[in-house]
Amino acid sequence: MLDRVQLYESGTDEFLLESEASMALKGRDFLSLHDYTPAEVEHLLKVASLLKAKQKAGQPHPLLAGKSLGMIFHKSSTRTRVSFEVAIWQLGGQGLFLNPADLQMGRGETIADTARILSRYLDGIMIRTYGHEIVLELAKYADVPVVNGLTDLSHPCQALADYFTIWEKKGHLAGIKVAFIGDGNNMAHALMYGAAKVGARIAVASPPGYESSPEVLRLAREDSFATRAQIEVTNDPAEAVAGADVVYTDVWASMGQESEHAERVKAFQGFQVNSALMSEARKDALVLHCLPAHYGEEITEEVAYGPNSAIFDQAENRLHVQKAILAMLL
Ligand code: CP
Ligand code: NVA
Repeated sequence: MLDRVQLYESGTDEFLLESEASMALKGRDFLSLHDYTPAEVEHLLKVASLLKAKQKAGQPHPLLAGKSLGMIFHKSSTRTRVSFEVAIWQLGGQGLFLNPADLQMGRGETIADTARILSRYLDGIMIRTYGHEIVLELAKYADVPVVNGLTDLSHPCQALADYFTIWEKKGHLAGIKVAFIGDGNNMAHALMYGAAKVGARIAVASPPGYESSPEVLRLAREDSFATRAQIEVTNDPAEAVAGADVVYTDVWASMGQESEHAERVKAFQGFQVNSALMSEARKDALVLHCLPAHYGEEITEEVAYGPNSAIFDQAENRLHVQKAILAMLL
């Protein structure tokens, strides 16, 4: 993967933005990293790096002037909502926050018709919802790109921002070991798909009964052959963090699972990212968390705010990576 410094110095802006690789992404949906080739993922990371550099240097980059992005949220959000809204605005376009309770969708208008109608006004649709099939249905009937802003199955925008953060901090992605500690949830799935595309090694440690989807594991492993990535699952957090370059965790009860919270707290004992567990990882292991965090549950404040933590850079990178996604797709 091209070094970031090399990228800035090579004067490849126009090449990057108008290259064949960019053209091949126009009009595509962004539903899962599984749908993208390793080269396409690498291209999105490079574009994100370029757009981040431009933004930091105060150089305008209105690649989506006059375009509009609709954003549907069936679940709460701080990072996704604000970063997408700012992303489209910084690219010269405008974002529309669409509360499903105020849409006719909330009164039973079908997803298919919603997709058909929104496609007549908008240049792209971002949706955060429960069932992944809702996003698939929306994408099927929409004529404009649909971006998955999180489903129960996957959170690809977050995972792409996470690999971007690791790339920035560690300088490369191939062979990097990521330990994911906790629920085999949407985050674990997206990170497994991502690892397979960037050639990383991921070990997901979950308590018995809370493992990742076997189908996602199968597909990620299938993808991993092309990049020599390694996708491992275990019930032992210490095994996962052994030699890890990155230790990642997420909440024990995701949105929609609030009623299972007490039972999950019991099941996840021993799966907290704390200093004892961190002492089993590499000394310079990066700590990541997609946030929001439940301090004292999946992670301690000491680790989350400690010297190895990059959780706020990681959150910032949602903006830069999503700008790359929007700039390429819309
Ligand atoms: N990480 C993440 O997606 O955060 P929000 O739920 O605040 O969007
Ligand atoms: N797994 C969490 C991620 C939040 C960004 C959830 O789905 O609630």
